[in-house]
Amino acid sequence: MTIQYNEQHRIFAIQTNQTSYIFGVNGKGRLQHLYWGSSLDPEDCAPLLRTWSHSSFDMEIERILEEYSFWGDLVYTEPSLKVSWHDGVRDLSMKVAEHRIVEQDGQEKLVITLQDEAYPLETHLSYTVIPELDLIVRSAKIVNTGSHDVILENTQSASWSIPYLPDYRLTHVTGKWSGEFQLRNTILSEGKKVLESRRGFTDSHANPWFAVDNGYATEDSGDVWFGALAWSGNWKITAEKTAFNQVKVTGGINDFDSEWTLGAGESFETPTFVGGYTAGGFGEMSRHLHQYQYDYVIPSQEPRKVLYNSWEATYFDVNAQDQMALAERAARLGVELFVVDDGWFGERNHDRAGLGDWFVNREKFPNGLEELIQKVHNLGMGFGIWVEPESVNPDSDLYRQHPDWVYHFPTRGRTELRNQLLLNITKPEVKSYILQFMTELLSKHDIAFIKWDMNRTITQPGMKDHPLQRQKEVWIRHAHTLYEIWAELRERFPHVAFETCAGGGSRIDLGILRYADQTWPSDNTDAFDRLSIQEGFSYVYAPKLMTCWVTEAISGMNKRTTSLQYRFHSAMMGTLGIGSNLNEWSDELIDESAGYVRQYKEIRPLVQYGHQYRLDTLKKQGVAAVQYVNKEASETVVFAFLHSQRLGEPLPRLRLRGLQPDKMYAIEQLPGAWTGKAMMNIGIELPLRGDLDSLMYRIREQE
Ligand code: DGJ
Repeated sequence: MTIQYNEQHRIFAIQTNQTSYIFGVNGKGRLQHLYWGSSLDPEDCAPLLRTWSHSSFDMEIERILEEYSFWGDLVYTEPSLKVSWHDGVRDLSMKVAEHRIVEQDGQEKLVITLQDEAYPLETHLSYTVIPELDLIVRSAKIVNTGSHDVILENTQSASWSIPYLPDYRLTHVTGKWSGEFQLRNTILSEGKKVLESRRGFTDSHANPWFAVDNGYATEDSGDVWFGALAWSGNWKITAEKTAFNQVKVTGGINDFDSEWTLGAGESFETPTFVGGYTAGGFGEMSRHLHQYQYDYVIPSQEPRKVLYNSWEATYFDVNAQDQMALAERAARLGVELFVVDDGWFGERNHDRAGLGDWFVNREKFPNGLEELIQKVHNLGMGFGIWVEPESVNPDSDLYRQHPDWVYHFPTRGRTELRNQLLLNITKPEVKSYILQFMTELLSKHDIAFIKWDMNRTITQPGMKDHPLQRQKEVWIRHAHTLYEIWAELRERFPHVAFETCAGGGSRIDLGILRYADQTWPSDNTDAFDRLSIQEGFSYVYAPKLMTCWVTEAISGMNKRTTSLQYRFHSAMMGTLGIGSNLNEWSDELIDESAGYVRQYKEIRPLVQYGHQYRLDTLKKQGVAAVQYVNKEASETVVFAFLHSQRLGEPLPRLRLRGLQPDKMYAIEQLPGAWTGKAMMNIGIELPLRGDLDSLMYRIREQE
């Protein structure tokens, strides 16, 4: 039994393999959080279920942590739900009415129903348990059981209460285009730290994930509480520390400029917010999140293919001949999937025209796409293609025919970003236009892979023809419609894999990952810059989901020069891709690269299905090292990167992780063998030298 209810004490306990999550119904009928940490007997929490006030300015509600707080009465901290009634009243008084423990898809789920004392509104709080990963997946459903509309002004998914710590350190990521997933941390002081997107998609400036520890947790040890939100629209995570040294982290759909009208009999379901606790440090946190994505979130268990992408090779200068030449060379490299990026359709000769006109450009492809697709297939590769269905260039037939199809306010200008506007996909005719051209593209051609891009944020968020009083629904409706389109396409074309991209890594989250097989984390393909982007990514998202391309020796991003080996090693830590102009590569370069692709295919099961350990980070000694171990701990691969050697300083030995202590292991490239405990405690030597050096060690258990 992972979910228990103690009738006598009115206490709920969610027990995972290593943790307990405990809360109760207090004398006021409110759900009071009691405990979240390593396994415990719920009865021991019974004495905690009481309230006491400090003064009339700090009433008892300030002293407790609520599981989900309803704005009204004395609630002054971040609420989880705030509504406005038809009669002008704006106050909630929700009390626990009943609970159910159900089994859904093999998982146990607790659903607690709360009812307002005077108005016909219910809140159903769900807790789904993933015992083996010590995770709880939470969400809320708001049900209007009355006959009047209710305006939902703020509807959060969940609030996570962190147990008392002398200090609370919040870890999160920030970034920008070409510099996504940069790790940050800060000690919380009283007040709120808000991580959010207001841009209409997940965003590169922040990502919907958090971790809290006492400031001393490391990769390998220490208590860490964390959560990740499944939402690709405007989101918000608020870490709030009260004057009574309590911290709660509330997250869900961003309430900024947001409202949802809940009609009579209707219900609204929030995105899910998965949370976990581990005593095993940040490394264990990430491994649990990775496994959760593999086992419960992403749509397919298939290995991800080695792909070639034409973007950096040809940009908009796409044509059948060059692409076929690229395909020939890609096949020699051992590529499994050939992807044509932007520029194949309409008048798309630059980024100023053509978006929205999803027909093949006959000047570039006189014999249609089929000729290239056939060639790619004959070379033994699958074929993939780029689309950006939510966007339109004003210089396009689509926009000339339907200028009203974009988000806009009638009295305002239409801000262009990258010379494009955003389609109002919530309009039924726009949604069916997208579904129709995608269906045509995917049924006319044998396409195995779609890279779905989105290269701008939402501005002037007006939805023409949508009721005036419901205009603020736009942020939610865009994300819902996008999910509906992806779900429909996946159902119609189950053999097609999808990559989520938004000008690099601006739409990567657990929401879109229910439909996407892989992600494009950044347009920055410089192999050194990628290390910190990939490190931040790995805190939350699994290696298999991270597409990484090997591009030119001199990076187009910053002119840094890196060796072929360094570039391959950096890109082999996720799903390997090649993004260079192979038409300009020598035969020697192609042969050498084919060797790396072969190596990648051999270690792919470790990278794509194994456990990942971050052994070292550039911030410390200038060495980044990441290890992948298979489930049996019989095989492992280690990647290490040196930035610059300085002043003859010796590099520290690298202590491995996840091996069996008493088994003997050998490094493929070196003579001799060592026990797992020697490799984990003494470490292995790192023969890295000079600038931007790298190595990959394959290590196997000896019979
Ligand atoms: C942005 C993406 O991140 C790139 O990889 C590429 O697909 C371009 N868009 C194409 O316009």
